[in-house]
Amino acid sequence: MLSVDHGMDPLLKRPFSIHRLFGDDVQILYRLAGKGTHILSGRNKGDILDAVGPLGNKFPPPGSGDKTILIAGGIGIAPIFALAEKLKNKEILLFYGAKTKEELLCTDQIKSLGIDPVISTDDGSCGQKGTAIDALIKHLIRHPSLVTSHRLYACGPRPMFKSLSLLAKKHNLKGYIALEQHMACGIGTCLGCVINTVDGYKRVCREGPVFPLEKILWE
Ligand SMILES: Cc1cc2nc3c(=O)[nH]c(=O)nc-3n(C[C@H](O)[C@H](O)[C@H](O)COP(=O)(O)OP(=O)(O)OC[C@H]3O[C@@H](n4cnc5c(N)ncnc54)[C@H](O)[C@@H]3O)c2cc1C
Ligand code: FES
Repeated sequence: MLSVDHGMDPLLKRPFSIHRLFGDDVQILYRLAGKGTHILSGRNKGDILDAVGPLGNKFPPPGSGDKTILIAGGIGIAPIFALAEKLKNKEILLFYGAKTKEELLCTDQIKSLGIDPVISTDDGSCGQKGTAIDALIKHLIRHPSLVTSHRLYACGPRPMFKSLSLLAKKHNLKGYIALEQHMACGIGTCLGCVINTVDGYKRVCREGPVFPLEKILWE
């Protein structure tokens, strides 16, 4: 949870994923969404900002024999890249979707990890036309054995997770998703970030943001 300014406006810290770790240094990758991120983009090298973290849980590592399918939608690439970097010696399939070619980030860094990502864009300006989930569906049709041998890890917008959940249910796919829920306190007290799961309501900031895909109840 990062303060973008020292004043009272905006009052609330903003949640960001850890994108990369260099020793004790943390790098975040963010998109300009609204007031907070626009203020953040005006900060200069050497400015000091308040931060609280790391908070919440993290992606559980895959089992020793597991192969992995990573799925990133939009700025969901920030934590998915971190995971890919961590797993770099494992067999990885990465599906990465964005609205347009201009919104695709880190593609060179992904390739430098030895991963050849399956790219998709909503407008077809780069890679396959459609979403990362559309690309995954096409891949599963061509390679049905992936379903039993691979574990999914995903981060992206809510509509992406809804379609991923339907797909996972249909094919009995197992995996984890990192949710980008709106947050206020970020430390488990305001209950502003709760989601409904098969085990009852859970706070995304505290019990999440990573949840087993099959546990989330989407309305
Ligand atoms: C666990 C977690 C990790 C995140 N990691 C990253 C990251 O690594 N990089 C990154 O760029 N963003 C990340 N986000 C989203 C980021 O927190 C929001 O984009 C940011 O708080 C927007 O602040 P703002 O003041 O610029 O926008 P606001 O003025 O608060 O909102 C502008 C617009 O963005 C929408 N918005 C605000 N917060 C969210 C959200 N959480 N999810 C979807 N839409 C939102 C609002 O509905 C509004 O339409 C993460 C969110 C969570 C919960
Ligand atoms: S943001 Fe306050 S409980 Fe999660």
